[in-house]
Amino acid sequence: MSRTVYVNGEYVAEEDAKISVFDRGFLMADGVYEVTSVLDGKLIDFEGHQVRLNRSLNELEMDAPVSDDDLLEIHRKLVELNDVTEGLVYLQVTRGAADRDFAYPKGVAPSLVMFTQSKNVVNSPAVSTGIKVISIDDLRWGRRDIKTVQLLYPAMGKMMAKAAGCDDAWMVEDGFVTEGTSNNAYIVKDGKIITRQLSNDILSGITRAAVLRFAVEAQMEVVERPFTIDEVKDADEAFITSATTFVQGVVEMDGVAIGTGKPGEIALRLREIYLDESRKKAI
Ligand code: PDD
Repeated sequence: MSRTVYVNGEYVAEEDAKISVFDRGFLMADGVYEVTSVLDGKLIDFEGHQVRLNRSLNELEMDAPVSDDDLLEIHRKLVELNDVTEGLVYLQVTRGAADRDFAYPKGVAPSLVMFTQSKNVVNSPAVSTGIKVISIDDLRWGRRDIKTVQLLYPAMGKMMAKAAGCDDAWMVEDGFVTEGTSNNAYIVKDGKIITRQLSNDILSGITRAAVLRFAVEAQMEVVERPFTIDEVKDADEAFITSATTFVQGVVEMDGVAIGTGKPGEIALRLREIYLDESRKKAI
């Protein structure tokens, strides 16, 4: 069945949705995106995603295509029109369509495209088995704090992981883990939750912010510092966070089992707290 998607002010069947071949998102990856999960037909952490979207736009001197209120309204309408109870809403803003030129064009309206994907995000099999990861060099550009649509290297990373019989890759720069290809990375050692501090080197995850807040509220110790692949192999637990995986255990790094080789207690507890609290605040 065809979905209804949103393209620049209109709700249309997906096969009728059109974007210009001159759109700079298509030509230059000149665009940013957000992924918001949907549980029980409601948006999880919507405000965080909205704030980060505005920051990404600001960093790239791009205008917001619609007001914050309208953005929420479009999210809600798409969820309703497509009858999404569980899944996600994807949104992408690009600088718009103009003759190809490296300099930002003046007076061009940004494009806004949004669509939904219904899928099982809570009860995915990986929750109980955990995921296996490999380490790869982080060869992305230096502004990973901006959520741009240039995702070819993360896609290559996932393919390298797949070729190695694994689920994902953690990226390493100057000897330290930056993050997963589409998630933030954590280890647990002696009861301490360790994750890299925010900077231009990683994306400031909306799930990360919430999970770290819940961890502190639950009297867990959080240390924000870079860590190495040797520390991952020697950790008691490891896990990832993102809007679509929430909190998920990582059970193997480069073929070495982490901790018991099963999702750890702290990761499972944080997942439970995150889901409970986020469901309460979902809009
Ligand atoms: N990815 N780091 C990277 C590189 C990411 O792409 C993502 C999200 C995260 C986690 O951010 P958040 O908690 O706000 O989802 C960290 C999304 C889910 C994606 O590309 O599908």
